[in-house]
Amino acid sequence: MPQKKDKGKAKADAPPKEITEKDLQKLASSIDKIAGKVQARQEKALAKGEAPKEKKVDPVKEAEMRKKVEQMLQALSTMEQTGAIKASGQKDMGSHQFWNTQPVPQYGENITEEGPIEPSVPRDQVRQEPYALPKEFEWCEVDITNEKEITELYQLLTLNYVEDDDAQFRFDYSAPFLKWALQPPGWKKSWHVGVRVSSNKKLVAFISGTPAAVRSHKTVHHLTEINYLCVHKKLRSKRLAPVLIKEVTRRSHLEGVFQAVYTAGTVLPKPVATCRYYHRSLNPKKLVECNFSRVPRGSTMAAMVKKFKVAEEFSTPGLREMKAEDAPQVKELANKYLSKFDVAPVFETDDDVCHWLLPTKDVVWSYVVEDPKTHKITDFFSFYTLPSSVIGNAKHSSLNAAYMFYYAVEVPEKEAADSYDNTRYTKQRLTELMRDALVAAKKVSEYSLTANFDVFNALSLMDNSMFIDDLKFGPGDGYLNYYLYNWRCREIKPHKVGLVML
Ligand SMILES: CC(C)(COP(=O)(O)OP(=O)(O)OC[C@H]1O[C@@H](n2cnc3c(N)ncnc32)[C@H](O)[C@@H]1OP(=O)(O)O)[C@@H](O)C(=O)NCCC(=O)NCCS
Repeated sequence: MPQKKDKGKAKADAPPKEITEKDLQKLASSIDKIAGKVQARQEKALAKGEAPKEKKVDPVKEAEMRKKVEQMLQALSTMEQTGAIKASGQKDMGSHQFWNTQPVPQYGENITEEGPIEPSVPRDQVRQEPYALPKEFEWCEVDITNEKEITELYQLLTLNYVEDDDAQFRFDYSAPFLKWALQPPGWKKSWHVGVRVSSNKKLVAFISGTPAAVRSHKTVHHLTEINYLCVHKKLRSKRLAPVLIKEVTRRSHLEGVFQAVYTAGTVLPKPVATCRYYHRSLNPKKLVECNFSRVPRGSTMAAMVKKFKVAEEFSTPGLREMKAEDAPQVKELANKYLSKFDVAPVFETDDDVCHWLLPTKDVVWSYVVEDPKTHKITDFFSFYTLPSSVIGNAKHSSLNAAYMFYYAVEVPEKEAADSYDNTRYTKQRLTELMRDALVAAKKVSEYSLTANFDVFNALSLMDNSMFIDDLKFGPGDGYLNYYLYNWRCREIKPHKVGLVML
């Protein structure tokens, strides 16, 4: 997908700079643009019935080129983590007034041994009283089972949550989605922490924790997943975020939980992994109208519509929507598949699987492949919906995105024995399945009033690199950093990340 333009231009007489992550991202984006232009010229020539003037881009060479750029980005990320250079947007450790005081690794730290940074303590040694807020505010627990309170949370987030750098789009998690995300088995109301204005009780800030079992390398942590940190736009830069983070940490400690996992676009000390966003157009016309993507020079809207057309029907025999009785098999399949990644959730019970994967109206969709002969579940995939508000666009107010969630394939014994055959089988099977995931997203769009998907998003994690090119996903300009709190963890490559956070 064509990238949005960078706003700033380097001055001709500016002193030479260090190479930053941004420079390499620009390089990756230039390569995408060149590949896009060549492809557009070829499509145009073919449409006119002419033989393409340039040689067709060799998919293997293109894949190699992409791999090289990803490797450069990875090398850069390693250099950042060892302190050799600074990431764009990364501050000096010393200027992280808050994170400096927290049990997280330093940017330059070379981690060889894993383990907690500070020890767990018994409940009676945990601070019992909440952290102090500025005097005009008070703490609250947001009761998301209460319609009024979930609506308050929805309104806070829909107006104040994450935006892209150009403030064109803002995540718009729906109320049913938030209920689902915040109420997994074992959820705790005390971890849904809000801040209200004391005088009128308006909800102005929020942070959540949910319990999860997550393995990093060989250790399974029963930790807190931190999400939905948000401070009202009018209260920014007043150091409220650190108080929210400390308060949810204290509440985790009270429950005997001393590790956490969280993700952010922002670079903080210090990422365990960094993944890139990829986008697959489903509705190119709307994406262009929203300024999410552009028609490549030399191409036309008609050519884009043709390029991104999705089949009407599934091609994988035995593919059907997941049902509750599939949970035990899906649990086994998912846990086995996820065991090959260096950070991944562990589905401990059928309830976990049912909560996260059973289709939930207008929130999450899951499909399994049932072998027509043995009736065994051999594969599954799932995706969830996350629309974004389109800010200041005359024609559109919302962009609907499907996000790739968990999936697994069972590799038959014959192929599993050999690593080459295993990869070849996985790539072929996954590409076939994910092509059907696009079909499923389109089918959902036809019957759902709220989930009319314009784009399918995925990160460069799990085995996604095996199908993104073939299925016409394009690299975006967004990156997502993964962090562990109070745990030293060796760096993890994107394709070794098996954890998807909402
Ligand atoms: C993220 C947000 C809560 C930060 O609040 P703020 O008013 O901008 O910042 P504050 O003055 O309260 O606090 C600044 C501190 O919070 C840290 N911080 C900022 N964003 C953070 C994040 N996403 N996760 C963890 N810490 C973060 C900063 O690094 C800084 O600490 P430092 O001095 O050690 O570097 C606020 O900008 C916001 O609501 N943004 C939109 C939603 C969003 O991006 N949420 C985070 C999703 S990952």
